[in-house]
Amino acid sequence: MHPDKPHEIDIVKTPSSKINSVDFDTLSFGSTFTDHMLVCDFREGKWGKPVIKAYEPFLLDPSAKVFHYGQAIFEGMKAYKDEHDDVWLFRPDQNLDRFNKSAVRMAMPEVEDWIFLEGLRQLVDLERDWVKKGLGNTLYIRPFMIAVGSGVIAAPSTQYRFMIILSPAKSYYSGEVKVIIAEHFSRAANGGIGAAKAAGNYSAQFYPTKLANEKGFQQIIWTDDATHTKLEEAGTMNVFFRINDTLYTAPVSERILDGVTRKSLIALAQREGINVEERSVYVDEIIKAAKDGSLKEVFGAGTAAVVNPIVGFSYQDTYYELPKLDNSIALQLKDKLTKIQYNLAEDTFGWTVKV
Ligand code: COI
Repeated sequence: MHPDKPHEIDIVKTPSSKINSVDFDTLSFGSTFTDHMLVCDFREGKWGKPVIKAYEPFLLDPSAKVFHYGQAIFEGMKAYKDEHDDVWLFRPDQNLDRFNKSAVRMAMPEVEDWIFLEGLRQLVDLERDWVKKGLGNTLYIRPFMIAVGSGVIAAPSTQYRFMIILSPAKSYYSGEVKVIIAEHFSRAANGGIGAAKAAGNYSAQFYPTKLANEKGFQQIIWTDDATHTKLEEAGTMNVFFRINDTLYTAPVSERILDGVTRKSLIALAQREGINVEERSVYVDEIIKAAKDGSLKEVFGAGTAAVVNPIVGFSYQDTYYELPKLDNSIALQLKDKLTKIQYNLAEDTFGWTVKV
């Protein structure tokens, strides 16, 4: 502990909780927030003291750089409650690591480890009643950082705000997920910010996703910007393809997010003796495999979505339906992953952290 900078967090509790007004059975993803949030400001080259206080709006100058240049990054994490009322985080070190890589790419200051990790732990601990028991119930955690310095000159801000907000959540997608393979739009390009969890990566997807929604599809599988022949990510998730009994997923790159669920599923699959290949997956080979029946499954993987089976996809206006399987690898891996997250199975990887 630094002598003149003790690792202390101020906690200002709300006089009452709104928890009793929340219907936990009908939550729509990301729209209900807990009583408190964490706020920590960066000024004059250093981070100030983090504060946990009431969840509430705050004022920003209209010229704050986040509004004009989108200097903003975020993470997605979850907390889980087990049968003994213990609350668990899943691989928070990985989110911290990725958050600070995103910060570097967006010319933002890295958050000190203890502010992220200890801030997260204390906030979740304070809000533990909001984490409900039972598979599927989670507390979605959204750490983020925005540029709050004023002035519309196109240069990095000197002032930033790091925050963590919490939202009780069930599933991200309700119902079946069908996707369109992108022929024109891309999520990211080499040299760009695709590997960063930058806000703009997500808003850039809204328009093509809206076009897909209008055609009855929920998401897009993005193809590479240069050739549109390689399958990259699916909407808000990394994507896996099962051909016969091998799983294929695109390697992490400047265009592809290093997903925590993605790498956890790869480790779990390998432990189960399932062959996984991290290599470019081509549109042509997936179409061929869909036609000859060797394409068994396609699924997305992400914190919010967990493991999301894709029931079919469209490419060049032809729809390919995927088989309904009794032995879905996606569902087996989802089961193994969630059992670790909810402390229902031994965590031999050392991934879970008790709050
Ligand atoms: C997550 O899976 O947590 C994400 O950050 C994706 C988000 C757009 C919901």
